Amino acid sequence: MARFPFGVPNSWYVVAYSDELAPGQVQRLQYFGRDLVAFRGESGEVAVLDGYCPHLGAHLAVGGEVVGDTLRCPFHAWRWDAEGGCAEIPYAKRIPPNLCVESLPVIERNGMVFAWYHAEGKAPDFEIPEVEGWGQDGWLASWLRWEWTIKTHPQEMAENGIDWPHFDTVHGLPVPEDRSCEFRSNSFLWHVGGAKDVSTLGGQTTELTMHGENWGMGFSWLKQSAIYDTVVATGLTPIDGETTHVRMGVIARIGDQDEPGVRAEIRALMDEHAVFASQDLDIWENKKYRVAPSLCEEDGPIADYRRWASQFY
Ligand code: FES
Ligand SMILES: [Fe+2]
Repeated sequence: MARFPFGVPNSWYVVAYSDELAPGQVQRLQYFGRDLVAFRGESGEVAVLDGYCPHLGAHLAVGGEVVGDTLRCPFHAWRWDAEGGCAEIPYAKRIPPNLCVESLPVIERNGMVFAWYHAEGKAPDFEIPEVEGWGQDGWLASWLRWEWTIKTHPQEMAENGIDWPHFDTVHGLPVPEDRSCEFRSNSFLWHVGGAKDVSTLGGQTTELTMHGENWGMGFSWLKQSAIYDTVVATGLTPIDGETTHVRMGVIARIGDQDEPGVRAEIRALMDEHAVFASQDLDIWENKKYRVAPSLCEEDGPIADYRRWASQFY
């Protein structure tokens, strides 16, 4: 029986970091329970198309090549443009009318490539915002990266972030009184102040302030101020309705400090923090979603969160 009753939420999802797709590069993607292909045309635009050629079904990412701003199928060399239109059939006098391969809306922001998934193919109804610190002077210029494949659903992972009581039981971190959560139309914002940073690096214990924003079901970012000001961007991209590819990217304010040194230190610091995610793993991978959970008053904003999340289906 399915553990989650949701399917894939209608949202923007990170499908690659921008620097993983140079002009002329092609990547096979397996997300949303389907096969897709991403490519960057020579003029720099990224496209995400259905993986299978409408002609006789070759996989466009397996041997497909970028020609100008089109992707050439490896089987009979039909070429597809970024919108999914057929640009050329090299041996045909006439391109049959209405010939196209499905293309997904794509935006590139914060050094990441986002594709829009909608179960009924509807157009995006919100945008991914620019993340604080990204591309700014005095900040790391590229994301430090971690990734995991987890047998859970993005809705469950985001719920974990506002499930205050579990922080104590699972992570050994009592959540301070200074916390809040605000649900907006397509996003929600949360704030935790005055937590103790448990990092042992350099023997320091610092006060930790966190401000986070979740945009749809696929993307969130979180600003932490402790030893460093860091921004943690998390992409939750469904491979299918029960498996999620998690990408965690981190940048930090470095001022005029030496970049390689800071990168190494942030990596060590975040490796400590990544332990938190692993503490949740067994619960995430084995729990099921209770549609009508028994909650108590102190369970915080879980019911509000679920009402907000329901808009993405
Ligand atoms: S299968 Fe793609 S061109 Fe024939
Ligand atoms: Fe957790």
